[in-house]
Amino acid sequence: MYSEKVMDHFEHPRNVGEIENASGVGTVGNAKCGDIMRIFLDIDDDGIIRDVKFKTFGCGAAVATSSMATELVKGKTVQEAMQVTNKAVMEALDGLPPVKVHCSLLAEEAIHAALWDYAQKKGIVIEGLEKPKSDIHEDEEQEEEEY
Ligand code: FES
Repeated sequence: MYSEKVMDHFEHPRNVGEIENASGVGTVGNAKCGDIMRIFLDIDDDGIIRDVKFKTFGCGAAVATSSMATELVKGKTVQEAMQVTNKAVMEALDGLPPVKVHCSLLAEEAIHAALWDYAQKKGIVIEGLEKPKSDIHEDEEQEEEEY
């Protein structure tokens, strides 16, 4: 069901952890499965992503896609990181089962949320970047939305 690359990144996830004083931190959640993803970016003065780490309360596919996504954005410029879509991540992993596609979206959204946080802190605008809809702020994390 899963490609060898997915299994490899699930069993040996790259870039797990956190970055102190990160340039940008993004936390997103998927309302349906309840999984949460947090990405930390260390971006230098030239706008190059020097380091990236992730933490997740997510399924195996979320772990694998985040691991691959962090590998794909590391060393890239902010604009290049914007090209790392969930589709690009899935291709790099040799595909995901259809029911797991949303997990790869969580990785993309978390990167966008971290870039958004970075842009807010720097007071800059990143072309093509919109405020992530599923953004979760630290202080809101414990509160569940009521329907
Ligand atoms: Fe929720 Fe995979 S099932 S992220």
